[in-house]
Amino acid sequence: MNPDLARLQPYPFEQLRKLLADSTPPARLPHINLSIGEPKHATPPLIFEALTGALGGLAQYPTTIGTDQLRASIAAWLTRRFAPAAIDPATQVLPVNGSREALFSFAQAVVDRRSDAIVISPNPFYQIYEGAALLAGARPLFLPTTPANGFKMDFDSVDEATWAKVQLVYVCTPGNPSGHVMTRDEWQRLFELSDRHGFVIASDECYSEIYFTEGQAPLGGLQAAALLGRHGFPRLVVFGSLSKRSNAPGLRSGFVAGDAAILKQFLLYRTYHGNSMSPAVQAASIAAWNNEAHVVDNRRLYATKFAQATPLVQRSLQTEMPDAGFYLWAAVPGGDDEGYARRLFAEQHVTVLPGSYLSRTVDGMSPGRGFVRIALVASVAEASEAASRIANLAVNQ
Ligand SMILES: Cc1ncc(COP(=O)(O)O)c(C=O)c1O
Repeated sequence: MNPDLARLQPYPFEQLRKLLADSTPPARLPHINLSIGEPKHATPPLIFEALTGALGGLAQYPTTIGTDQLRASIAAWLTRRFAPAAIDPATQVLPVNGSREALFSFAQAVVDRRSDAIVISPNPFYQIYEGAALLAGARPLFLPTTPANGFKMDFDSVDEATWAKVQLVYVCTPGNPSGHVMTRDEWQRLFELSDRHGFVIASDECYSEIYFTEGQAPLGGLQAAALLGRHGFPRLVVFGSLSKRSNAPGLRSGFVAGDAAILKQFLLYRTYHGNSMSPAVQAASIAAWNNEAHVVDNRRLYATKFAQATPLVQRSLQTEMPDAGFYLWAAVPGGDDEGYARRLFAEQHVTVLPGSYLSRTVDGMSPGRGFVRIALVASVAEASEAASRIANLAVNQ
């Protein structure tokens, strides 16, 4: 077997299952699960209709590059949403089966494993970045994102000798778990470093459509590149998804967009990897990218939940409204995130994720330790009920 498989860490939800295995929560309280970032709002009917209307397509093998119509609808959405200078649907966009597989397979296509490759990731982080780096034969290097540094990756903490080995940098904006949205200045610094050292930037933007004030959409990587006068998105690839935007995680639909030369190689990789998108999913995806009304409705629900839940959670935990995304990243009193998650489950029947499961210990510090991630994915009523129970836990302490 590939020895690198042994380097993979247990997935956070496996750790959580073990943590809570011997707890007996009060049966009088219905369970509310806020641990996993799985959207629970209804999938819009237009997706079902387009999906079922295209089942005839199952008689064909889809191409890896996807249909012209799908790439055109993604490019048009990108232009409407991020106003990048011009995005060419023929060369600068590819469909992917959810951003997760793409974030993973991208490292396999990008990393030159003959050299002493380093892949940079935020810490805490979406676990796929690490697994992707390890299975690409690279060494992950984690940059802590904490309240003290405003959840920004401190690229200037990396020395020149290290940059020389860095081949790929994952950024996540809006961030999971912090919700931090990278600023124009952060992008500018990252682009300067990429120009100097030649590394590729993978910008995970799957939460880009979950924000709280209409008209104040988070900045994206393509948009930052255009604003900073860059042409052709050199060494930049962004990852988008319908999972959170359109409440369709089961559809498995997303895209990558950016540097045409890199996407050409990624397409070659994907052709061999064999991950083309079902024709019915392509049809449903076109319908979803072409419609914005359901996304606005979706955001409204999150805005309501955050407005109700945040002050309640703040009664017992230290947390702030995120810039965007659907997580509250909250510091627990005493700093024992596992103990807190166990108690909340055992006494209030609410599941949240210990932050230490999302981070790695570097120089004796695990930046997720002492935090819990609260995914406000449940219904408005349930999210508010869960927040009251979180507030109650402190009252009982
Ligand atoms: C930061 C981040 N990136 C990517 C994904 C993957 O999303 P999908 O594969 O559904 O597009 C998730 C899912 O929770 C996530 O939290």
